[in-house]
Amino acid sequence: MQAVIDKLERTHNLSDDEFAALLAPISADDEKYLSQRACHVREKYYGKDVYIRGLIEFTNYCRNNCYYCGIRRDNAHAQRYRLTAEQILSCCHTGYQLGFRTFVLQGGEDAYFTDERLCQLIQEIKRRHADCAVTLSIGERSKESYQRLFAAGADRYLLRHETVDKAHYEQLHPAELSHSHRLQCLRDLKEIGYQVGCGMMVGSPGQTLNCLIKDLRLLQELQPEMVGIGPFIPQHDTPFAQEAGGTAAMTVRLLSIIRLLLPHVLLPATTALGTIDPKGREKGLLAGANVLMPNLSPTEVRKKYALYDHKICTGEEAAECVRCLAARVESTGYKIVVSRGDHITKEGLYHANQSHPNPRTDHKAI
Ligand code: 5AD
Ligand code: FES
Repeated sequence: MQAVIDKLERTHNLSDDEFAALLAPISADDEKYLSQRACHVREKYYGKDVYIRGLIEFTNYCRNNCYYCGIRRDNAHAQRYRLTAEQILSCCHTGYQLGFRTFVLQGGEDAYFTDERLCQLIQEIKRRHADCAVTLSIGERSKESYQRLFAAGADRYLLRHETVDKAHYEQLHPAELSHSHRLQCLRDLKEIGYQVGCGMMVGSPGQTLNCLIKDLRLLQELQPEMVGIGPFIPQHDTPFAQEAGGTAAMTVRLLSIIRLLLPHVLLPATTALGTIDPKGREKGLLAGANVLMPNLSPTEVRKKYALYDHKICTGEEAAECVRCLAARVESTGYKIVVSRGDHITKEGLYHANQSHPNPRTDHKAI
């Protein structure tokens, strides 16, 4: 198996059979070798630095009805909320003081947030925090809309593809959502010039080894700057309430594979991974991840953004999470830095673009 791992590191490619072997149960030695090679590659490009992104879950209204998600439209038990622009700006202010230089605006697909409202908000965040990156994670929109938001100053966009396999996509989503539209959105975002993140849930109902191999092929083709993966975790008010969840072991394995596939990728150890395993985020960092996305949302709304059950950090203040994470990261031998944490091959390009100035911040330790 070590020869296969070496081949992946060297060529960023494997045959389907080799991917399948790497995703099947492997020996503890092979497991260790895989994570060591992933860490080696991660350190080659990003050193010991861990980037933090301040996640602001600004609305849980959503017009979609994905079967796995706790804020789906038909969940009458979800207590809906929407933060005001002032509340969002105040989250950014708190985050800035804590050392965040990236803010991620994440929400359901909420018609209230028109291009005009979002552009104003992005411009105001950029005016107040010129040295910060703004990431959007607000689902499928038209190419024109993505263009306007980019022109307003948004730097990055997260849109998980969830699964590339069409039949599997249809198992996870109602017919009104289309697999091809989701992929089109990702291509549009890339073309516009965003740093783009896609990704999938691990262990979602109906996911096969073959689905995962296809997902890895999409990553090879799209070459996203970021990849967000986390275990599927059932949410009690969804049609998938009784389904089995994904495992931390498989998620961690995929993190290493993705690091070797896309050496420069920005790869978070996600909150979902920390939810199913108390050491999940540390394990993720030690398997090749280099990003953490703690929550900056006001504590009073956190429990309402319940995509899945038992989500961690819903009772903590942002400052508490940063302290907690700093200690966790330190235990791995890595360190959280105050930095925008741009994708390494995009960084120069971003600084050269005068219409979209993004001064580099110091990589000082927190
Ligand atoms: N378990 C794990 N992840 C989930 N997401 C949504 N619902 C769940 C769940 N039940 C993920 C999806 C989505 C991201 C914002 O959260 O991948 O893209
Ligand atoms: Fe939030 Fe540990 S990261 S409490």
